[in-house]
Amino acid sequence: MNARLTERAHPVPLNQSPQDLPVNGAAELTVIVPTFNESANVAELVRRLHIALRGLQWEVVFVDDDSPDGTSDAARSLALQDPHVRCLQRIGRRGLSSACVEGVMASSAPFVAVIDGDLQHDETLLPVMLASMKRENVDVVVGSRYVSGGGMGTFAEHRVSMSRLATRLSRLLIPASLQDPMSGFFMTRREVFVGSVRQLSGMGFKLLLDLFASSSRPLRFIEVPYTFRERVAGESKLDNQVAWDYLMLLMDKLVGHIVPVRFIGFALVGGIGVAVHMSVLATVLAVGGVAFTGAQTIATLVAMTFNFALNNLLTYRDKRLRGLRWLSGLASFMALCSIGALANVGVARFVFENDGRWALAALAGILIGVVWNYAVTSLYTWGPSSRRKGRPRRQNHESVAFVAARLDEPHA
Ligand code: GDD
Ligand code: MN
Repeated sequence: MNARLTERAHPVPLNQSPQDLPVNGAAELTVIVPTFNESANVAELVRRLHIALRGLQWEVVFVDDDSPDGTSDAARSLALQDPHVRCLQRIGRRGLSSACVEGVMASSAPFVAVIDGDLQHDETLLPVMLASMKRENVDVVVGSRYVSGGGMGTFAEHRVSMSRLATRLSRLLIPASLQDPMSGFFMTRREVFVGSVRQLSGMGFKLLLDLFASSSRPLRFIEVPYTFRERVAGESKLDNQVAWDYLMLLMDKLVGHIVPVRFIGFALVGGIGVAVHMSVLATVLAVGGVAFTGAQTIATLVAMTFNFALNNLLTYRDKRLRGLRWLSGLASFMALCSIGALANVGVARFVFENDGRWALAALAGILIGVVWNYAVTSLYTWGPSSRRKGRPRRQNHESVAFVAARLDEPHA
């Protein structure tokens, strides 16, 4: 309780009205912990938070995506003994960023922090972050591996270079002065976050980047160094799909207001499909024994199957079809895209007959084809009727608003 008086002694930040300050032991800081299969780490993290935040008014909210290992149960059993602990168990959704967003929305505290649930971030920095936040009157305090005093710890070599590449790409969106935009460890003012929450993409792992890119004004920030620790229990969820999500987040922030990001993913996959088509065609022709029409038919079937499989893995991961549904999805994808191919040829011929430029005609045909394919397969191949029961895949390709809206839909 003494600490509360100490905190009160701090000057009230300019953009915070005195009535927003918590009283009677209510939390001043909410620590949000996204979790997926972290049951072995939950109790230890809470124990460490108690030590780090002693004397402050704080709470921790675990936002768990229905982990099969019972992380939510582990958090709730702690919560029964400890009023600092809360658990938000999300059903039917996956995603690190979107989990953190919901954690913030479940908080009333003026300050919110996001920290990994696997003990890789340095929780002893939290009081330092809170004090700097108030003292410097900034919007965000970032736990940073790249400012002096910080470090990657024993991070695998390829992950260091991946992280650096991702950081370089982030410069497309946010100021270069932020050294560690990939950090998943930061503190902000709830009102700053809420001010941008409707603009967030909520895709993938990189909420801090999303926050910076979504804010209508430049955010004032400072970075405090920390060393990334090794994971002791549980497994990392970072995989190739997280890299794809990151690309989609960048795309969404760059052009998402013009074209839906799922369409961009679909078109990218289509582009790769063209390369597959060409190499299969070249191979079949080189082997010989098949006439051109036969070779073209084989190449088309292979490329369509490839496109379907890759879209199912990446573009529509959250609606991924498996087993028999994979086969019926492939059939509907092929049927619908065949109509797209007819439309492609029809439009190209029309433009060619009227304009005469073959390249322009081909491009017009391709554009119509891909728009058609995208529109109808999103409705029929991966549409509402394809929805499955059970544990969902990560849903990273929709805006937070979209995900929220879907909660209102009746469940299939
Ligand atoms: N709710 C929820 N849903 N939590 C998730 C999900 C999900 O789909 N995926 C991962 N998490 C949780 C993990 O349980 C863990 O607590 C935290 O998010 C980070 O996931 P890791 O799988 O451990 O990621 P990492 O160690 O490779 O990378 C993390 O640290 C980097 C360095 O700060 C991430 O937080 C990166 O964003 C961060 O840059
Ligand atoms: Mn981790």
